[in-house]
Amino acid sequence: MIDTLAYYDENALEFFAETANVDMAALHQRFLAHIQPGGLILDAGCGSGRDSKAFLSSGFSVVAFDASPELAKLASQHLDQAVAVRTFADVVERAAYDGIWACASLLHLPATQIPAALRRLWAALKPGGTFYVSFKVGEGERVHAGRYYTDASERTLRDWLEVLPLVQTLDCWLTADQRPGRQDQWINAIAVRGAPAGKKTGHRRRRPVSTAPLPVDQSGRRN
Ligand SMILES: C[S@@+](CC[C@H](N)C(=O)[O-])C[C@H]1O[C@@H](n2cnc3c(N)ncnc32)[C@H](O)[C@@H]1O
Repeated sequence: MIDTLAYYDENALEFFAETANVDMAALHQRFLAHIQPGGLILDAGCGSGRDSKAFLSSGFSVVAFDASPELAKLASQHLDQAVAVRTFADVVERAAYDGIWACASLLHLPATQIPAALRRLWAALKPGGTFYVSFKVGEGERVHAGRYYTDASERTLRDWLEVLPLVQTLDCWLTADQRPGRQDQWINAIAVRGAPAGKKTGHRRRRPVSTAPLPVDQSGRRN
């Protein structure tokens, strides 16, 4: 089986240079609008630390991890804070985070492992917390340029997310890749975790699960 993490370790400097400055502001705004000022965000598979850096600059607290030791080291330098070397399978926190950001990271898991990883991350969200995830648009699994990928359609992503307990709202939308010369499309989702009956959440917005046709947003994606 292809060793995706070895790819990131061997190409960490190049990957950092390619991704650390991509403009993700539109996606950040959409996610951060759900999170209380100063809230705690988990950046799961943080790569260069680009998004953690933006969240810290906006006054949020961040816990970041990555499974590639070399990328975790570069991200730690970029953020001037520790970045743990962990995988999704190591996430055992419960109701710990106001937001979880999994940008283009779960896509390297085999499809059979994605539901369990989503359950772990979802359990780490506080009631009222907000989860962001993105995949390259497509169907099935593939190896490309030294990495293993599971692609997703809106239907696939909804199937993975709708079965999580207490999904209060779920929005999916498409974005274009933000890097010059890249033609990929991305499927993004934001899901808000509700609270068990009788408990109030600190979530800032209340909207029903979206069934509207998928909007296409030309701003904010990469890789
Ligand atoms: C395409 S990069 C995205 C990085 C960053 N989130 C971004 O948007 O630029 C995928 C990242 O996921 C990390 N990754 C891959 N498998 C992982 C796993 N099982 N657990 C945690 N991180 C993983 C890789 O090391 C890499 O940093």
